[in-house]
Amino acid sequence: MNGKLVADEIKSRVRSEVEKHSKKPLLACVVVDGNKASDIYVASKQRACEECGLRSKVLRLSEDVTEVDLENELNLLNADDEVSAILLQLPLPSHLNSAHALNVINPEKDVDCLTDKNLGKLLAGTASFAPCTATGIIKLLLHYGVKIEGKRAVVVGRSLLVGKSVACLLEQRNATVTLCHSHTKNLKDITSQADILVVAIGRAKFVTAEFVKEGAVVIDVGINRIDGKLFGDVDFDSVKEKASYLTPVPGGVGPLTVACLMENTLTLAKRQLGKTVDNF
Ligand SMILES: NC(=O)c1ccc[n+]([C@@H]2O[C@H](COP(=O)([O-])OP(=O)(O)OC[C@H]3O[C@@H](n4cnc5c(N)ncnc54)[C@H](OP(=O)(O)O)[C@@H]3O)[C@@H](O)[C@H]2O)c1
Repeated sequence: MNGKLVADEIKSRVRSEVEKHSKKPLLACVVVDGNKASDIYVASKQRACEECGLRSKVLRLSEDVTEVDLENELNLLNADDEVSAILLQLPLPSHLNSAHALNVINPEKDVDCLTDKNLGKLLAGTASFAPCTATGIIKLLLHYGVKIEGKRAVVVGRSLLVGKSVACLLEQRNATVTLCHSHTKNLKDITSQADILVVAIGRAKFVTAEFVKEGAVVIDVGINRIDGKLFGDVDFDSVKEKASYLTPVPGGVGPLTVACLMENTLTLAKRQLGKTVDNF
């Protein structure tokens, strides 16, 4: 599955809509220093904003920023009418509580849908947008005509950012979903029953062919850097022989996450202008 191709389509749709707006939406990314990968991700998000005609700004905070200072900065962005959307780049250093910090973001500007209010709407099925990675995965499945309804989906990894939110979206599209994690017993027995298998655990090449049912659709969310090279959570070479569809790393879910971030930024900007939106 070519995530980049689908991401390019989404970005070009965003771009043509942004061109119609006289005031370009502004995405503010907040990065706390200390994680090299975060710098790479934020740079790619800025590039995507340029491609889509969106404005962006990056607020860089030092590694030892206090929780209070981080919250103050987020509140300044909440109060800034120029800012349409706020992204707090995760992970944060261990002295900061991500859940507390995320909940400081005004839900109307919460572009990754990670405040308790927006997650509650996601769970209730009343959200008009969802976390970017989970949204990207659903868009990829739809693009390739993968039927979700009635299928057995297994999601490995239960973070709010990825696992839980994609499990929720798959369930809302009438898949029968099993959510697995590090305490799951007999993981292979469960994953090998999946018609759709989503893996988001952060362990390079963990899922090999024996975890996968013949003909399954396998979505590899993992991004693991080893000696400067990127690897997914799925062992691509062994699983490609068995899967009907498989996402590569890089070039799979990653570009879709960024494209959906652009789309969510536009969605929030439109909502702030009182326009109706539907991202799905
Ligand atoms: N492509 C993208 O755009 C994108 C976006 C976000 C994240 N990612 C990547 O996706 C991966 C996961 O990210 P995340 O933020 O969800 O990570 P996370 O918050 O660290 O969560 C990892 C999850 O995997 C589970 N897990 C870990 N080892 C396991 C094992 N051996 N068997 C079963 N479950 C296991 C953990 O279980 P417990 O809950 O029991 O600890 C946890 O639920 C990372 O590689 C990250 O870089 C990619």
